[in-house]
This record gives sequence, C-alpha cells and structure tokens, in this order.
Amino acid sequence: MNKRKHRPGHEQEDERAHGIANKGAEEGGEEGADEGANEIVLRADGLVKSFVQGQQRVGVLHGVSLTVGRGERVAIIGRSGSGKSTLLHLLAGLDDPDSGAVAVAGTPIGPLSAAGRAALRNRWMGFVYQMHHLLPEFSALENVAMPLRLGGMRARAAAEEAGAMLAAVGLGHRLGHRPAALSGGERQRVAVARALVGNRLVVLADEPTGNLDRDNAEQVFDLMCRLSDGRGVAFVIVTHDESMLGGVHRVLRLVDGRIT
Ligand SMILES: Nc1ncnc2c1ncn2[C@@H]1O[C@H](COP(=O)(O)OP(=O)(O)OP(=O)(O)O)[C@@H](O)[C@H]1O
Ligand SMILES: [Mg+2]
Repeated sequence: MNKRKHRPGHEQEDERAHGIANKGAEEGGEEGADEGANEIVLRADGLVKSFVQGQQRVGVLHGVSLTVGRGERVAIIGRSGSGKSTLLHLLAGLDDPDSGAVAVAGTPIGPLSAAGRAALRNRWMGFVYQMHHLLPEFSALENVAMPLRLGGMRARAAAEEAGAMLAAVGLGHRLGHRPAALSGGERQRVAVARALVGNRLVVLADEPTGNLDRDNAEQVFDLMCRLSDGRGVAFVIVTHDESMLGGVHRVLRLVDGRIT
C-alpha cells in the first residue's frame, strides 16, 4: 500500500484498507519487496442471486466466489444471460445478493448504507461500461475530474490530476473537448481515465470494448493493461471478445450460475 499516492482527507480509509486488506504485511510488521502480491482488493464469497420474473423466481448466480489480487486482471466470460453483469453489480454493491458477501479493499460492503457504498466505490473502484457514460455537457477534463471532486478534492488539484490521467491515455490534447466532439475510441479512453483517476484499487469493466472497432478495441485494451501494470490497479473485465483474453492473468467462466 505504500506505493499508493497519499491523498489528503483519506487517512482513515487508507488506514482501514491497509489494516484489513493487507493482513500478511500487518502481521509481519513490515511490507516486503513483494508487497501487495497477496493483497486481496476484491473478494466475493458464495454469491447467490435470483430475480423474480412474473410468478417465477429465476436463479442467476448459485454460489460464486472469487478473489482478485492487487494489480490482477481477471476476465469473466460466459454466454449472454449467464449473469456476468449481475455479478459485477454485486461486486460494486449496486445490488444485493440473496446470500453471500462482498468485500472491497477489505471492507464488507453488505452492511454499508447506500451513501457508505457510494463513498467506498468512489474511493476504491472505477467503472468502464460498453457505453462511455460520460456527461455530455462537461469537457473530458471535467468528466475525469468528477470522481475526484466528489471525493472532496479541490478543483485545481482535481484538474491537475485529471489532466495527467488524460495525458496518460494519450488525450492530453483533448482536455477541453466534450464527449460529442470526441471519437468513439477517444471517448472510451476518457472513460478509462475516469475509472482510474484517484488511485483506485480495482476497475470493473463490463464489455469495455464492445462498441469499438478492432483497432480501437485493441488500443483501449492495451491501454488498460499498461495502466493496470504501471499503477497496480486490478481489473475485472467482462468480455465477449476472446482476443482480449491474452492480456489477462485469469479467465473465469460463468456457467449455470457458477464459476468454472
Ligand atoms: N433486474 C432484473 N430483473 C429480472 N431479471 C433480471 C434482472 N437483471 C438481470 N436479470 C436476468 O438475469 C440473467 C442474467 O443477466 P445479466 O445481465 O447478468 O447477463 P449477462 O451475462 O451480463 O448477459 P449479456 O452478455 O447479454 O450482457 C438474465 O436472464 C436476465 O434476464
Ligand atoms: Mg451483461
């Protein structure tokens, strides 16, 4: 954890995540050279989820457990309707499982209020969707600065950090552009910058290249891998695109509501 940049106003969260997410180092009293190697940034235990459709209850997840280590890239694949997006929603605390538990940076998300979950997401998690979901009336810079501002960072510091992040995704020359004035690939790179800004620990990506042509898809995926390696950010990537699987460390298949 000591590689993470310090952010003022987050001492408490840093302490807590450090203490819980990095138990090995804590017990050892120091963080060794392979610090973070065993650090679990995201953990799911026995997730069961069903939806009621009409008179029927339809089971989607039947006991999904997974752990994602610091800087690890995990792909989740499975046929349409197998529950991939449902699983990401549970991992983000955007929906509740029928049973089972999720912990983000060592903090169990289940007991938290909606505001507590939002704060936890803002601090540790980024999101990339098939649609970029950028705010149309804001510039690229403002869109990327938004999570930092929501996290309490001052405008100037947030703009600086957002500008650096946009430069890192190759868009330092597009800071003032609104989403409508960007290409599809550029928009998705802004979305990646927004997901990563603020030293997030884990990014959940649901078909992040699904709307892009091959060249742009490869570019965005390479970018995610490079930033993930460089910054130690974990990625959970739902994808249909088998060509993306070469860049991930683990592939999990969702079949019949279970990971195989
Ligand atoms: N809010 C909901 N209410 C009822 N059923 C739902 C709800 N959300 C998802 N489902 C059902 O759960 C199943 C899994 O949906 P999910 O969106 O997780 O699939 P997916 O694996 O992401 O599929 P795709 O690859 O098409 O995006 C589907 O059968 C879907 O109809
Ligand atoms: Mg889906």
